Amino acid sequence: MQTYRIAVLKGDGIGPEIVEQAVKVLKRAGEKFGFGFAFQEALLGGAAIDATGAPLPQETVAACKAADSTLLGAVGGPKWDTQPGANRPEKGLLGIRAALGLFANLRPAVIFPELRSASPLKEEIIGDNLNVLIVRELTGGIYFGERGRCTENGAEAAYDTEKYSVPEIERIVRVAFEMAMKRGKKLCSVDKANVLESSRLWRATVQRLQKEYPQVEVSHLYVDNCAMQLVRNPRQFDVIVTSNMFGDILSDEASMISGSIGMLASASLSAGKAGLYEPIHGSAPDIAGTGKANPLATILSGAMMLRYSLDQPKAADAVEAAVSAALQKGRTCDIAEPSLPTLSCTEMGDLVCSLL
Ligand code: NAD
Ligand code: IPM
Ligand code: MN
Repeated sequence: MQTYRIAVLKGDGIGPEIVEQAVKVLKRAGEKFGFGFAFQEALLGGAAIDATGAPLPQETVAACKAADSTLLGAVGGPKWDTQPGANRPEKGLLGIRAALGLFANLRPAVIFPELRSASPLKEEIIGDNLNVLIVRELTGGIYFGERGRCTENGAEAAYDTEKYSVPEIERIVRVAFEMAMKRGKKLCSVDKANVLESSRLWRATVQRLQKEYPQVEVSHLYVDNCAMQLVRNPRQFDVIVTSNMFGDILSDEASMISGSIGMLASASLSAGKAGLYEPIHGSAPDIAGTGKANPLATILSGAMMLRYSLDQPKAADAVEAAVSAALQKGRTCDIAEPSLPTLSCTEMGDLVCSLL
């Protein structure tokens, strides 16, 4: 029997609760489809700072590199907010993305039909099967540019630098074109080319690569306009490709199309197969330990792992179908529906397993 080695980084806040549900669902999928898992836990973020003093221990990097794939909860929380920038939990997350070369972050904003009324957008705006894929560059831009403190005219100042090289832009844009080819053949590149030089290089690179993908209809939007268009008419989008920071912000916005940030999964991919899978949301310190967390974004990230890293598309489809079925039977608080029972994080995980 095929056994997959999975590194498990539970992280902080609701991280452990949601990851536990996704692990349960993956195990159930393995039983059903005839493969097994060897899960290896490793420390990341605040949990790693508490245990070792650093947010990304070398053993964690080694465990992820040795694994077939990695599952992550979320990191961060008020306890570590006073840490210096270089030693924050979030720095551990950026570090593991860089160490594994995870330059392509796929964030699908999908509406399950069951949740059409849970979205704050009107049902006629959402339509029947809204499905927008945000392709976010993940290992460059302002997140990784030069930053620091200085003085300006005698006053304290700070700076962060946005920088992209052509090869960095090319590789993420190619991923987006390839995705568009498999989907609706529409690509919208989002930038701020009216102000930023790095955006002008980004746009010119997209325009050049476009010639290699003549079947794909390409458009360009400034990020401020895109933020507006996502709530005005999200159905105009198929694939959106954008920089690290714009993708971070737009994907949280797009998550509300799907009813809750607790629904939006993601895959972080490199040139290789392994990948790291995580919900787009954070550690939700406001609800950690209350059982209110929605585990579905993490469970759906597990489905993405089955599809993109483990070549188990049938199991991935089955997990997604079980999530859909679960939404007809119960809801976590964030997507509560008066006619259905309100479930805890664990109860939702159990329900998905029972329907798989
Ligand atoms: P957040 O995503 O943690 O929470 C925003 C809001 O959404 C909160 O009200 C929270 O309760 C709710 N929410 C988030 N996930 C939910 C879920 N699964 N079910 C139900 N409700 C959910 O964002 P934040 O509050 O800005 O950040 C909290 C911490 O998380 C910070 O330290 C931040 O740096 C970190 N963070 C980590 C990641 C990550 O590890 N990938 C992502 C985003 C934020
Ligand atoms: C995300 C998070 C991270 C990011 C933070 C915690 C570093 O917001 O995964 O969306 O900005 O990439
Ligand atoms: Mn984010």
